[in-house]
This record gives sequence, C-alpha cells and structure tokens, in this order.
Amino acid sequence: MFPTLALVSLSFLAIAYGQQVGTLTAETHPKLSVSQCTAGGSCTTVQRSVVLDSNWRWLHDVGGSTNCYTGNTWDDSLCPDPTTCAANCALDGADYSGTYGITTSGNALSLKFVTQGPYSTNIGSRVYLLSEDDSTYEMFNLKNQEFTFDVDMSALPCGLNGALYFVEMDKDGGSGRFPTNKAGSKYGTGYCDTQCPHDIKFINGEANVLDWAGSSNDPNAGTGHYGTCCNEMDIWEANSMGAAVTPHVCTVQGQTRCEGTDCGDGDERYDGICDKDGCDFNSWRMGDQTFLGPGKTVDTSSKFTVVTQFITADNTTSGDLSEIRRLYVQNGKVIANSKTQIAGMDAYDSITDDFCNAQKTTFGDTNTFEQMGGLATMGDAFETGMVLVMSIWDDHEAKMLWLDSDYPTDADASAPGVSRGPCPTTSGDPTDVESQSPGATVIFSNIKTGPIGSTFTS
Ligand SMILES: *[C@@H]1O[C@H](CO)[C@@H](O)[C@H](O)[C@H]1NC(C)=O
Repeated sequence: MFPTLALVSLSFLAIAYGQQVGTLTAETHPKLSVSQCTAGGSCTTVQRSVVLDSNWRWLHDVGGSTNCYTGNTWDDSLCPDPTTCAANCALDGADYSGTYGITTSGNALSLKFVTQGPYSTNIGSRVYLLSEDDSTYEMFNLKNQEFTFDVDMSALPCGLNGALYFVEMDKDGGSGRFPTNKAGSKYGTGYCDTQCPHDIKFINGEANVLDWAGSSNDPNAGTGHYGTCCNEMDIWEANSMGAAVTPHVCTVQGQTRCEGTDCGDGDERYDGICDKDGCDFNSWRMGDQTFLGPGKTVDTSSKFTVVTQFITADNTTSGDLSEIRRLYVQNGKVIANSKTQIAGMDAYDSITDDFCNAQKTTFGDTNTFEQMGGLATMGDAFETGMVLVMSIWDDHEAKMLWLDSDYPTDADASAPGVSRGPCPTTSGDPTDVESQSPGATVIFSNIKTGPIGSTFTS
C-alpha cells in the first residue's frame, strides 16, 4: 500500500464507541465463505465473516449520541487527551450495506467506492476477515502455501485501488496488549501497515489526538502525532488499467506505534522502521505493456483468478520465504506471469531477493526492502500470523499514479521504472474520481488457501 486510505467520518445522530463499544446500531458482520484446500486438490468451504475497520465508524460519547469526531476534528471536551478520549468515546456498529456499500453473497465480497447514506456520503472502505468465532481476526501463514481469489475490477478506473493484502495486526485487534481498547477486533481495531499511517484515530488503546491536523484536501481525514507500523504483503493492488504484487517489510515484528523519524514521513522516507516502497512486480513497469488490462492477455474487462505462491527455500512451512510466484487463470486457461523486459535485467517472472536487488539497481531506487531483510523477513511475518485485508480507496497524496501512470511525475517517463501504467498523469484526483466514478466497485470472490498447486485447475 502506498499512501494512506481516504477515510470518511460520519456525523450521525446516534451511538458512539471510542475504544469503548456503542450499541445504537447492532454490529452484524457480513458472512463470507472461503475454501481450504488439501494437497490432492479437494477443497472444503468454511463460513467466515468480515469486519469494517474502526476508523470508518461513528465515534460518539459513551451512552449518548454526541460525536467525538466530526469531519476531521475531535471534540475538545470529550477528547482533551489520548486516554480520556479512549474512555469517553465509543465505536458503534455499522450498517454495512446502507452506509458503507459493503455486501457479501456466498463467497463474494463487493466493495462500492461511493455510498450515499441517510446521513453521510461514504468514500471507500476497508474490511478484515474474521475467524470462525466471528470476533477475532483469521490469522494466515502462507509459507509454502498458495493463496487464490477471483477478482472483478472491470468497474475500477484509473485512480482507484481495489486492494487485497495482508498486514501483521494483532489477532484481537490489540485489546489484549492495550486493555483501554475495549472494542478490539470485533470492531475492526488495530490496523497497521508499512506506510505507518498517522490517520488512524486510535493506536495502542489511545486516541491519536496529539498534534492532530485535518487534511488540506480530504474533509474526512487528518493525521495525529503517532503512526502505526507493521509488515505488509500486498497480494493485489489494482484497477482495470494495472496491478502490482508487493512485499514490504519492517525492522520490527508485530504492530508497532511510531513517532518522529521512526515513522519515515516526508523527507525521512528511508529513515523509518518500515520499507515504504516495497519490492513490486507490476507487469507494465517491468516492461510488458500488453499483459494486463482491458482486452489484454489478462483481460480486466471480465473476472479472472489470481494465484500467488509463497515458495520457501526448503519447500517446507518452516523454511525461509524465497520466492513469490504469480499466475492467472481466465476462461479455463492458466496464464503464466509476464516476464521482465528491461535492459540490464534478466527475464524475471517472480519476486526473489535477486529480482528485488536487480530491479532497485536498474531503476535507481533505494533498496530498504533488502536492507530490512527482504523475503525472509516477509516470511517471518507470516510465521507470526497476518490478517487479510480487502479495501477500495482513492489517493489524496499521489493520485494512484505510482500504480497506473508515470511516477514520479517530474521524472523522465522514458527512464526505466518510471512508467507504471497507461493512465494520464492528470488522472486520479480524488475530487474527479469521486464525482465521475461514484459507482466504481470491486468484487473479490472464491478465496482459497492450500498447498502449492491445490487451489486451481486449468
Ligand atoms: C523444492 O521443490 C522444487 C519444485 O518441486 C524443486 O525443484 C526443488 O529442488 C525443491 N527444493 C528443495 C530444497 O527440496
């Protein structure tokens, strides 16, 4: 994930849970079935559910309906300091479809970009997969395993991101380590990623009210003193014009609150505790502009299957992660990943430490990914356990140009690594995409995990 998500806050009439729990709306997690496969290729369907991230929820005073947070501003009397705010404020239940445009049916999850609710307009969303207990996160270790899903992103234009990824959150959302967090994973608390986002309203059981500043271009978001960091495996960051698979690592394991230089903000991007750039494989950026898009080899105008294999050095679940392989299945045909076609690089078609080193050298990029331990560190995070995230978002910092256009915009677009997709550098402004593509939607379905080769057939 590159910059932070666009958030919306709601000015409702009713309930609030800060890091307490509010009860004005019942919290009913949408059901989602997923499959677990065995080496022979037989798969069992299990019932799971998804939970909305706490940042999107109505936050109000405990027992009342006064907003603790409105637009991008905290209420001074309810939230004079981090701990008082956490005690005074409650997170409420979510109307998943009516307010947030989140619906499930069988094994499919649909996330709508703009939802006009009764009291508010919601932009984007982020949900986590819960385990069979319907209240703690499902933890994944994908070493020597494969993760597969179908995606329909035909209705996702330039500037949007339908993302499926893993982050190293606490199974209980942090309520065990930080007892002032009473809401926990049942209310989607404890988010972290390698961008060490500062826009999270509660971190480590405290409100992020210190130094809080509303965003200059997002009426629903702001940033506080602290960020929240952790390892992140981006399986899929994509729209109909392009896609990237990107491991990112940190020098710390598990969700970690940061401040100052450790957060790696602005000019200190490469001085923080996490690798913000990651080691990305984006077929267009790696030199094949014919591979993925509308009408291309992987045709984004209809649904297809995305398979990601996590190979270890000794082919066991305890070995070091050594390779991340990608393949696609569409219309019954298995499609091998595109090969790198960049002068000075071998024809890599998967992510290995060799690939990352070669790519960073050839593109002249800073190699914090390998400095922080590369794929082995990513594998260590899976051993700790990672949480599945699915989201739809637009980008108030960089217009998603790092995914689908030329980026940085002041670089020579013909220099290797600068062109990442066909979208114009003028595309992706949140004001434009929110007004022009309110119906944009991503549908993730048919999630499967299992041993290498068990989750798909040709
Ligand atoms: C792991 O499996 C691959 C593919 O089956 C094989 O080529 C490789 O030699 C194996 N590696 C080890 C260390 O057993």
